[in-house]
Amino acid sequence: MAESVLQVARLAARAGGDVVARYFRDGVTMRSKESYNLVSDADVESEEAIAQVVRGHFPDHALMGEETHQADAAAEQLWIIDPLDGTNNFAHGIEHFAVSVAYYQGGEPQCGVVYNPLRDDWFEASRGQGATHNGRALRVSPSDSLQEVLLGVGFFYDRGAMMEATLAAIGDFFRAHVHGVRRFGTASLDLAHVAAGRFGGFFEFELAPWDFAAGRLVLEEAGGRITTCGGNPLPLSKSSILASNGRLHEEMLAIIAPHFAVSGKQ
Ligand code: IPD
Ligand code: CA
Ligand code: CA
Repeated sequence: MAESVLQVARLAARAGGDVVARYFRDGVTMRSKESYNLVSDADVESEEAIAQVVRGHFPDHALMGEETHQADAAAEQLWIIDPLDGTNNFAHGIEHFAVSVAYYQGGEPQCGVVYNPLRDDWFEASRGQGATHNGRALRVSPSDSLQEVLLGVGFFYDRGAMMEATLAAIGDFFRAHVHGVRRFGTASLDLAHVAAGRFGGFFEFELAPWDFAAGRLVLEEAGGRITTCGGNPLPLSKSSILASNGRLHEEMLAIIAPHFAVSGKQ
């Protein structure tokens, strides 16, 4: 079972990736969903291509996607799809975006694929089977000091208290002497970067399930840890995210928690 859902997740991610790569090359008109949050035919068509592959193999399974599929998170057999993660990069011609496809059973992640179609980069995981990058085993950074790592950060589409609290937390991480803080703009790939040991950790004060559903399993299977920014287990709904190599988790949490508390988020 695990292998076949992973194979379908791959086929689905490939189908979505083909759509977004074609639109990236040929050009597409972006529209605003709400201020700062863009969408295009690429997002919508990619989600449809992914859904068609999944439905073709598992007609009874439920689909939750960012654009059009609205299954309940409580569905027993649930596919969670971000058809284009990193839309702002895509819109501005930056070659750093991905398609994210995950399969959950009974609320637990079973497999996840994060695919960057321009680099032909595949980050994959199956529950209990480890995580890979283009077929090679992934492992988080062994570092136990913030002074040895890069961190990733994300900003939700917000220009208020959440943004200010994120900036304040970044300041504290610099004062803790991290090597640097990066904002690459694609949450699924940020999680893959932690899984690959490139980042020691990553945080964002609000993400949607499709942003983290696949990357979360890739990270956990690579030996990392992921919680909310309050240190709680992740729900399958909008949530803050603190991802790390495990060893740095408590130290990162101690820095983030006071800022998260004033971010206006739970
Ligand atoms: C966004 C990206 C970004 C993160 C935002 C997400 P989208 O997803 O993952 O890195 O900071 O919070 O919403 O809108 O490009 O699919
Ligand atoms: Ca996203
Ligand atoms: Ca998206």
